[in-house]
Amino acid sequence: MRAEPCAFVLFGASGDLARRKLLPALYRLALEGYLPPESAIVGAAIQHMSTEQFRASMREALERSPEAGHVDETAWRAFSRRLHYVPMDISSAEDYRHLGSVLEHVDREYGTRGNRIFYLSLAPALHAEAVRHLGETGLTHAHSPAWVRLVVEKPFGTDLETARSLNQGIHRYLDESSVYRMDHYLGKEMVQNLLVLRFANRIFEPLWDRRHIDHVQITSAETVGVEGRGGYYEKAGVVRDMLQNHLLQVLAMLAMEPPSSLSPEAVHNAKREVMASARAFTPERIRTECVRGQYGPGHISGQPVPGYRQEPGVEPSSRTETFAMLTMRFDNPRWAGVPFYVRSGKRLAQRLTEVVVQFKDGPLARGTPNQLHLRIQPDEGIALRFATKAPGRAVHHHDVALDFRYGSTFGTRLAEAYERLLLDCMLGVSTHYVRNDLVERGWELVMPLLEAWGAAHDELPLSTYAAGTWGPAAASHLLEAHGRCWSANQ
Ligand code: BG6
Repeated sequence: MRAEPCAFVLFGASGDLARRKLLPALYRLALEGYLPPESAIVGAAIQHMSTEQFRASMREALERSPEAGHVDETAWRAFSRRLHYVPMDISSAEDYRHLGSVLEHVDREYGTRGNRIFYLSLAPALHAEAVRHLGETGLTHAHSPAWVRLVVEKPFGTDLETARSLNQGIHRYLDESSVYRMDHYLGKEMVQNLLVLRFANRIFEPLWDRRHIDHVQITSAETVGVEGRGGYYEKAGVVRDMLQNHLLQVLAMLAMEPPSSLSPEAVHNAKREVMASARAFTPERIRTECVRGQYGPGHISGQPVPGYRQEPGVEPSSRTETFAMLTMRFDNPRWAGVPFYVRSGKRLAQRLTEVVVQFKDGPLARGTPNQLHLRIQPDEGIALRFATKAPGRAVHHHDVALDFRYGSTFGTRLAEAYERLLLDCMLGVSTHYVRNDLVERGWELVMPLLEAWGAAHDELPLSTYAAGTWGPAAASHLLEAHGRCWSANQ
């Protein structure tokens, strides 16, 4: 499956994400033959540098990127010839006109046929302005049969209002079918596998409801802290950074009804429908069903690490949450009464993103209930835990697991999320991107939380947890109060 030739314009090309993820992903796509030789990559950023300097800095980024793997000289030479650089002030109309002439030149030189992808990897405050300029200079206009696609990196807006206005600004110039809102969790192998696991097998879907499932846990635990992004994180916090987007998307894939097909429209509709039935966070629910925390100093892999308030760019009295746990509930026939406990945090005990579906007890159950573990990362795979009779005359129950691991089963490298999603965009497939209504629904759901936790004098507790633990004890107490416990903390 090869993409059509196109010019891939990367705004924010000198930024962290571009260097760590986007360029390595493009390089891998080229290496594996997914990019046609006529494609070109045009980096755009505020820094003044020549194309040669840009190529050199991208080479260095590739060397450092574990995702790119060993840099193959022949492949690099072919790839680097397609890299261009344009210094660009996001607020200067003149610079967009210049970009336009560079793109015409690129079309002639490489044969990109007027096909363009504009990828906004910028601070969210700059998205609207970039889109307006692209629109006003006519760069969003494609001359058929050429196409123009716009990819917007997360965060898409910083709250419901800014997300709505960004959507409106985009739709002034582009049809929704040309807009690709990036959420890289949707490119992870295990997240995409949810469609196959749930809907291609006979054994799970009949049990996938309130009659058989007791509750679901979604954990996204990171051991890293804010990684030098204190300034950004102070304004974001984990709800904006991880929950509103990544984890709500995983939740939607887990909880949605079977889509009528795998078309983008059908999948987006199914997600939209289930998220429409997600219960709103009332002040009472925020107080009793949600927990937030902030990491203090502690140890990660035996090494001392500072607390959040000691990180560069962070206020010493900051009340930004670095951990949050939300109890999500759906008021629909499939999920009535089944809580989905969703948590995410920085500087936790272990790097682990997993979903645990806990089933109700069988009539003779003793011990641990049946659990289906979907390991999103690391060591992607699926484990089904169930009781078996231990050998011997007496009936002793013993918990065992059927364990499938991508690594040992397929033995091949799993593509990075960005590789898959960038290729999808080049192919014009938006199934694993986020539609406008869904992004707004995500904000609508978390707004009451953001307002309650962001209020100047909020009385709600913000627990400090030691770095290297599983977060505030309150998150465990909440499950215990429901007669349950976090599976990953065991
Ligand atoms: C990003 C967040 O979207 O996702 C980061 O901004 C976070 O704070 C990252 O570390 C996690 O992604 P992954 O793929 O490493 O789980």
